[in-house]
Amino acid sequence: MLEHLSHPIFKVVRESARDLNQRAYVVGGFVRDVLLDRPSKDIDFVTIGSGIELAKEVANRLQNATEVNYFKNFGTAHIRQEDWDFEFVGARKESYRGDSRKPAVEEGTLEDDQHRRDFTINAMAISLNDEDYGSLVDPFRGLQDLKDRKLKTPLDPEVTFSDDPLRMMRAIRFATQLDFTIDEASYKGIVKVADRLSIISQERITDELNKIIQAPKPSIGFKLLFDTKLLHQFFPEMVALQGVEERNGLKHKDNFYHTLQVLDNVCDHSDNLWLRWSAIMHDIAKPDTKGFTEKEGWTFHGHEFVGSKKVKHLFRRLKLPLNEKMRYVSKLVLLHLRPIALTKEIVTDSAVRRLIFDAGEDIDDLITLSKCDITSKNERKVKRFLSNLKDVERKIKDVEERDRVRNFQPPVSGAEIIEMFHIKPSREVGLIKNALKEAVLEGEIRNNREEAINFVLKKGIELGLKKP
Ligand code: CTP
Repeated sequence: MLEHLSHPIFKVVRESARDLNQRAYVVGGFVRDVLLDRPSKDIDFVTIGSGIELAKEVANRLQNATEVNYFKNFGTAHIRQEDWDFEFVGARKESYRGDSRKPAVEEGTLEDDQHRRDFTINAMAISLNDEDYGSLVDPFRGLQDLKDRKLKTPLDPEVTFSDDPLRMMRAIRFATQLDFTIDEASYKGIVKVADRLSIISQERITDELNKIIQAPKPSIGFKLLFDTKLLHQFFPEMVALQGVEERNGLKHKDNFYHTLQVLDNVCDHSDNLWLRWSAIMHDIAKPDTKGFTEKEGWTFHGHEFVGSKKVKHLFRRLKLPLNEKMRYVSKLVLLHLRPIALTKEIVTDSAVRRLIFDAGEDIDDLITLSKCDITSKNERKVKRFLSNLKDVERKIKDVEERDRVRNFQPPVSGAEIIEMFHIKPSREVGLIKNALKEAVLEGEIRNNREEAINFVLKKGIELGLKKP
């Protein structure tokens, strides 16, 4: 393990602990990550005795520690040095009260401390003590579980998960990030105590959910969330997408698995968390809008409108930000059918201009979402759609180069219209501005000043304004 202790901090902690006559270890996520060859800049140290005393001793020896914080109530300390974070804590033995996450803390041995951790792969420690410096302390065979790519609780799963129900989310998050399986007994433990998630705040659940969504293949996590029924507790709208109905021999697709496919597809093209959320939400209103008619079969008319309206409500409940990120997702949900709809008609310049105008900066993301939304099993159909979308993309590039409507700014402003006709701010100004925008988008005039001024003059006179 010595090769993993190359950072100078380890030597400093070793000497500090020696001087205090305290035992010290590296523990938890850092040990897991170095063994998995994942770079990590968070290091947790555990000591038998006071974590704060050890941190003080360490801080004294560090020349360039930029930030040192002591949390007396929790018995922990945090040191930040450049972009590294060091956390110090005394080993604990914990017993939890049934109704809350807040544990009653008692001092304990290293093994007590390892017992109270979430998974065997997170419960390994490396000694920083002189007699066995660099040796792995692994009482629960975490190294073997790491090799077997398995998540397993050190204690009876029901105890570990009831102690801190957020760990059920963490199990699924690690399974998704690392592509590990959850050990059978641990999985059963989650199913058994799933409803205990209710004591966890939505913010912390959403933190884990976002980590699942940022993994290379989030469908792994969503399937586990669904199968364990954790998803039912905080995102029933997504659960409602699941299922297939059949009438007159006609089936619609399972929108839950379709959504997951679209999400995974998006992840192959983009790291943008909000584009990924747009994929999750794009069909969210299909259950609300589902209909069946003899003539049309299954329909989901207007699901893009209803869905885009639901985004705000869902973002609020899921404690996601209610800012431009939310408006971006809502816009993409609203527009998600437009690029494909364009391929079904003769693509006119004005239709393309309108799409660019409506999508603005996000037109490229919208096209990505559209491509990823094609999940048909019929390869010929997929090929045809993708090739049609390529045509739309070419056309967008072409129209954009000529007309620059992506960030459309009216070529004549409201203030200028007021000045041109010597009028007060009034309804007419709005009417002229809107007519100008329409004329540019329809291609009646080009997006330049000269043509715009002529158009404004003509329109003003039509509205009965006096010629300037
Ligand atoms: N831990 C735990 N139960 C939790 C959270 C954390 O037992 N609900 C323990 C685990 O041993 C974990 C360590 O505390 O390894 C540090 O937790 P944290 O920094 O939150 O997570 P990491 O495991 O380091 O992983 P990541 O940084 O990816 O969140």
